[in-house]
Amino acid sequence: DWNPGNVIAEQVAKIRAQVGDARVICGLSGGVDSSVAAALVQRAVGDQLTCVFVDHGLLRSGEAEQVEQDFVASTGVRLKVVDARERFLTALAGHTDPETKRKIIGREFIRVFEDAAREVVAEAGAQGEVKFLVQGTLYPDVVESGGGEGAANIKSHHNVGGLPDDLQFELVEPLRTLFKDEVRAVGLELGVPEVIVWRQPFPGPGLGIRIIGEVTAERLDVLRAADLIAREELTAAGLDREIWQCPVVLLADVRSVGVQGDGRTYGHPVVLRPVSSEDAMTADWTRVPYEVLAAISTRITNEVPEVNRVVLDVTSKPPGTIEWE
Ligand code: XMP
Repeated sequence: DWNPGNVIAEQVAKIRAQVGDARVICGLSGGVDSSVAAALVQRAVGDQLTCVFVDHGLLRSGEAEQVEQDFVASTGVRLKVVDARERFLTALAGHTDPETKRKIIGREFIRVFEDAAREVVAEAGAQGEVKFLVQGTLYPDVVESGGGEGAANIKSHHNVGGLPDDLQFELVEPLRTLFKDEVRAVGLELGVPEVIVWRQPFPGPGLGIRIIGEVTAERLDVLRAADLIAREELTAAGLDREIWQCPVVLLADVRSVGVQGDGRTYGHPVVLRPVSSEDAMTADWTRVPYEVLAAISTRITNEVPEVNRVVLDVTSKPPGTIEWE
């Protein structure tokens, strides 16, 4: 019988056997997967672990703070924060192709991460070599990046594909056989705070793949504002657990005519993509009550001047994927 206590005991033993007394680093994104992976490794090897949080500037409103406050406060994990916002914007400038954007984000992420890791190694000094890298890879990530048996490569998931051949770390992937609901059960059992455990999935490449078109600082601000409103209203309506996740997508290269007050507007649409799912391999669009959709639409168009139209994605997966890129 599957139970989180067994998984923890089994993984803790496995991690200890793999790692010995070497030092370990973990990239923390603030999401469920990396947080639970980090908590599991901390349970296994305690202070041998240092977490690195790369702020790539593609995060939603408040996410960086949540990592620093909620996760660190509850686990006491050692954390290094790297501000790489400029670097990612520069690397993404001029690019619109989804796979190119994913690959750029994955590549930059690894580079920033390797630099940070080198610093952690230097700081570790005589205390020991850093040899291991923790990743919160789940079973569906493995399958969808072509790692599963006979699976086609649908999208390059940045925590699986694109790792350089000369990566100087051995990987520790304690969640590699688990589905999301199992990861949540393990997280709760480990005492990871509920706000993190129940966070909806958020992709590694972040808002970078939710801006259809070039990613710029201004567009990120627009999308962050719209996304925050959608999240606030869905939470207020008590729909967080019913909805698997609700990407808000900015169609940055599309404009449409609108009217506000007595003026003509020529703004951008955002797409709401609420989905229900068990494991993200398949999904259905969530029948969010009309009043909630209305509240989101009214607030976004009132509070985010660049957005003059809110549309709803009513496509299941397949044929649509959850994210638009
Ligand atoms: P799709 O769009 O393929 O998404 O239906 C399935 C699930 O995976 C998330 N996703 C990612 N997660 N790195 C991640 O860690 C990625 O590159 C990535 N791309 C998509 C997506 O949000 C959904 O939950």
